[in-house]
Amino acid sequence: MKKGIFITMEGPDGSGKSTQIDLLKKYLEETGYDVLITREPGGTTISEAIREIILNKDFTAMSPVTEMLLYASARAQLINEVVGPALEEGRAVISDRFVDSSLVYQGMARGLGVDTVYEVNKLAIGKYMPDVTFLLDLPAQVGISRKKGQKELDRMELESIDFHEKVAEGYRELAKRFPERIRTIDATLPVESISSLIKDSISAIL
Ligand code: TYD
Repeated sequence: MKKGIFITMEGPDGSGKSTQIDLLKKYLEETGYDVLITREPGGTTISEAIREIILNKDFTAMSPVTEMLLYASARAQLINEVVGPALEEGRAVISDRFVDSSLVYQGMARGLGVDTVYEVNKLAIGKYMPDVTFLLDLPAQVGISRKKGQKELDRMELESIDFHEKVAEGYRELAKRFPERIRTIDATLPVESISSLIKDSISAIL
């Protein structure tokens, strides 16, 4: 049986993760993988219910610690119910965001500290760290402008540009901290170029 592979896609809001996930799924299927796509916060009935609470734009009073714990709760359920079992079956799992989002958004942009947020999340993720993470890097302003054109903004997207700049910079710092796992890709490149860079990187791993 093939060994499972866990791939995560990260980046500021509006960095084009979903498009790249669809393209990567097709590629992995061609190489014989049974592919599961999931997203955070969400991916299970319980986690999607938690997502509704986290992203509700009326809940402006939510404290950073509450926010961190809710993301971790949604993650714990996703790992337990979906990601863990799929990896054990030898599938390829691609997740739209994972623990790095908490390290950057809650740890850095909200200021709770990367180490604190990681400690809390260890309980949620157990042994399941991604094999490889793609960081779609782009200026915060570009990402938010893209989002504004697509949909009504949620509680996180409605944060100040200063917050989103901290996120974009936080991801760059995190990539320096985990250079062997996080591959940074310039998300301002054309969709096809980004996709080829991701495929090249994955084929070298497989
Ligand atoms: P996402 O699903 O990417 O938003 P959208 O569907 O609008 O593209 O993510 C939801 C938001 O939650 C996004 O602003 C990033 C944020 N987030 C955190 O702050 N911490 C986390 O741990 C995760 C997973 C997401």
